[in-house]
Amino acid sequence: MKVTVVGAGAVGASCAEYIAIKNFADEVVLVDIKEGYAEGKAMDLMQCASLNGFDTKITGATNNYAATAGSDVAVITSGIPRKPGMTREELIGINAGIVKTVSSSILEHSPNAIIIVVSNPMDTMTCLVHKSTNIPKNRIIGMGGALDSARFKYRLSEALGCPASDVDGMVIGGHSDTGMVPLIEKATRNSVNVSEFLDAARMEEIVQATKVGGATLTGLLGTSAWYAPGAAVSEIVKAIALDSQKMIPCSALLEGEYDLSGLCIGVPCIIGKNGIERIVEVSLSDAEKAHMQSSAEGVSKTNALLN
Ligand code: 2OP
Repeated sequence: MKVTVVGAGAVGASCAEYIAIKNFADEVVLVDIKEGYAEGKAMDLMQCASLNGFDTKITGATNNYAATAGSDVAVITSGIPRKPGMTREELIGINAGIVKTVSSSILEHSPNAIIIVVSNPMDTMTCLVHKSTNIPKNRIIGMGGALDSARFKYRLSEALGCPASDVDGMVIGGHSDTGMVPLIEKATRNSVNVSEFLDAARMEEIVQATKVGGATLTGLLGTSAWYAPGAAVSEIVKAIALDSQKMIPCSALLEGEYDLSGLCIGVPCIIGKNGIERIVEVSLSDAEKAHMQSSAEGVSKTNALLN
């Protein structure tokens, strides 16, 4: 499998690193507009190969999409990240132009590529790729829910005092501070509902901490996070490479699922060799349905800014 990662900043480099370390891809091509930057990151990462035991070949290219030709998957991380105090939605003006140009350059050289969108505002950028490329909907995946669910599991494990591998939980809805819908009523520790261990107030704290997970890190780091976003992307790419049919919450184009249409928003997706193989409609409580509805309204408002 050949994977292109556009944007060799912290998120892009972290995607390339985790994909390589997991050792399922033949080749990763990093692309950046800054002269020599992708080449430098690729060389640095390749010097980890003997240390970290991977065989994936990582190369870099300065704005040269010919080097990406024949990619099976392309990840778009390019654009500006948010600074402390900014919302993801504020990035739309600059990032929309970049995401549009990048997706058309990718498809020019890799017409069959599955595109994974990371750039923010992620749900709206995923929608923009749909609108501007016309490729089948299964081949466009927004990565937000995979990341938000990992942050949810981190918060759950912290509250439960147990390893993250002990907990299971999903975040659906928009990838924004107000739009995320952490499905706390369904979260479990080894199949036991977390409400058996945590009181309602603690569960609400987990929900709130999850929703501002990205903003908390932006405040601490002075820029957007990169390790967990990179790891989240690598899990989606791995599910495609291995055709594993894994259920991962991702931003997908909805056409009636969850009573929503014409927007991309986080929902549980079965991921395999064709990208989004299927959207899973889980039954939601009335409160979850109401959150999903208001989340969709928020995403639609941001989508309207595209025009
Ligand atoms: C985040 O850290 C990258 O949006 C991203 O939440």
